[in-house]
Formats: sequence, structure tokens, C-alpha cells
Amino acid sequence: MIIAETIAQVRAQVKEWKKQGLTVGLVPTMGYLHEGHASLVDKAVSMCDRVVASDFVNPTQFGPNEDLESYPRDFDRDCALLEGHGCSMVFHPSVEEMYAPDAATFVEILSDMPGQLCGKTRPIHFRGVCTVVSKLFNIVTPDKAFFGQKDAQQLAIIRRMVRDMSYGIEIVGCPIVREADGLAKSSRNTYLSAEERKAALVLSKAVFLGEKLVREGETDADKLVSEMKACIEAEKLAKIDYVSAVDAVTMESVHRIDRPVLVAMAVYIGKTRLIDNFLTEDC
Ligand code: PAJ
Repeated sequence: MIIAETIAQVRAQVKEWKKQGLTVGLVPTMGYLHEGHASLVDKAVSMCDRVVASDFVNPTQFGPNEDLESYPRDFDRDCALLEGHGCSMVFHPSVEEMYAPDAATFVEILSDMPGQLCGKTRPIHFRGVCTVVSKLFNIVTPDKAFFGQKDAQQLAIIRRMVRDMSYGIEIVGCPIVREADGLAKSSRNTYLSAEERKAALVLSKAVFLGEKLVREGETDADKLVSEMKACIEAEKLAKIDYVSAVDAVTMESVHRIDRPVLVAMAVYIGKTRLIDNFLTEDC
């Protein structure tokens, strides 16, 4: 596997592959990889001739009081995982390589979409995500890019950005990978103490409850959300940021489940903010 630290190196390699008529898939990540990330690489390997993963903790998507400094990092372990899953190249740039000191151009979606759900507590987050993903698209020029349904709002926003900016890149959404007991895999799970790790199960418990209610025919989104909230509130260490039912494409709140709906939540377990969700159409 090629380890590239510069934009020029990525461009030269991708140019070479394209000259050979090979298709290229991109898996953007912030590193500290787990089976969730690996599932995106597997999917990309199955659909593309060459796969590039980026491993970059992107500072522009972290708010001033968020965990940029403490975000876990282990590049050597990431490389082993990526290589084991058939990744062709990892792009691991420095912050300086990605952002000039006077960088002043951002990619931002000017609709309510980024202001919903996670955007309410993380106001600059999606601007940072769109900017870095847009840069990665320009650097790697992939045919397809792979994102997890775990970050459902991010996936919906990227789809919108690709449409609005005519990127001509196919966005492939991949299902949430969970621990054996149900907890959605996340690099941030490492922040949890043993007691918090147990308490964190309340997120997937609420997701599974929601899915069951939808399967049983519940169409009242408000009732669904209240039952899920009650389930989470029963856990003392959990503090709800939001539990919401929104249109799966526009992210606007819905009261009835009469179209594809995303039921998403963010919950603090101690100081750690975790997210989880499900799509009603998958129930
Ligand atoms: P990161 O949190 O590292 O996630 C990288 C990709 O892995 C995202 O598309 C995310 O949805 C997916 N992923 C994470 N956990 C998953 C799980 N349990 N199951 C399935 N997929 C999972 O998301 C980001 O990084 C960044 O915002 C990024 C897009 C790289 C821009 O900086």
C-alpha cells in the first residue's frame, strides 16, 4: 500500500491509474480505524479497481470546545487495517498540506439542512466536513466515494453537495457496523469508562425499540420519538442532546412516517457525545 503525505503524490498516482483505465474509490476517514471504516473499504474494493483512503483529523470541522486535540490517533495501526482490507493508497496529509495558513474558502450548504440535528450543537461542523470532503474530491478525483450511514446527516449533506456542485462522483452509503452487543462502532467509544460503555448501550437499545415500533406499524413520529426518549432517560448516565424524526433527504422534521424517515439521536454518556440512527425504510 502506498503511503502518500502530499497532494502532488496522490494526484500523480491517480493520474497513472486513470491512464491505465482503472476506476478509483475514495474512503474519507479521520483515522483510528475500526470495522465500521473497514466495511467502507471492503465495499470500495468490491466496486472499484483502486481504493484510496484518507486519514486526516480535519481541524475545520471541530468547534472550539470540541475534542480536536484529544481525538484518538494511531496511524501505524490504521495502515495495517487498510492494507489488510486491500486499500491501494492512504493519504495522510499534515494540516499544513491541506490548509494554507490564510485559507479563506469554505464549502457550505445554505439550507436548513446543516442546522438540523447535529448542526444545532455543532454550528460549524458541516461547513468543515463539506470543505474537507470537497478538497479530497478535487485531490483524488474518485469515481465513487464511500460514506457510512452511521453519520446519516453527513451522508445526506454530502449527497446534496455533490448534486449541487455537479461533482459527478457516485456516493455510496454503507450500513452501520455495530459491536456484538449493539453499540455502533465509533472511534469515540474509546473515551468511555467501563461503566459508561455499559450505559452507552441505551442508544442501540432505543434504535432497536424504534425499529420494532415501525415494523409493528407505528406511523406517529412524535409518539415514536417519545418512546425512544423514555428508553434513553431510564439510563442515569445518559443525557439526550436530541432524538428526532426527519425526512431522510431534506432533514426537515416530520410528524408522520409517510415517506422515508431518518430517526436519529445524539446522546451524552458522561462527557462523550455518541450518535446512532435508523431509516424507517430499512425496518
Ligand atoms: P470518521 O468519523 O472517521 O468516519 C469515516 C467514515 O466512516 C464516515 O463515512 C462514517 O460514517 C463511517 N463510519 C464510522 N463509524 C461507522 C460504523 N460504525 N459503521 C459504518 N460506517 C461508519 O466521518 C468522518 O470521519 C469525517 O467527518 C470525514 C467524512 C472523514 C471528513 O473529515
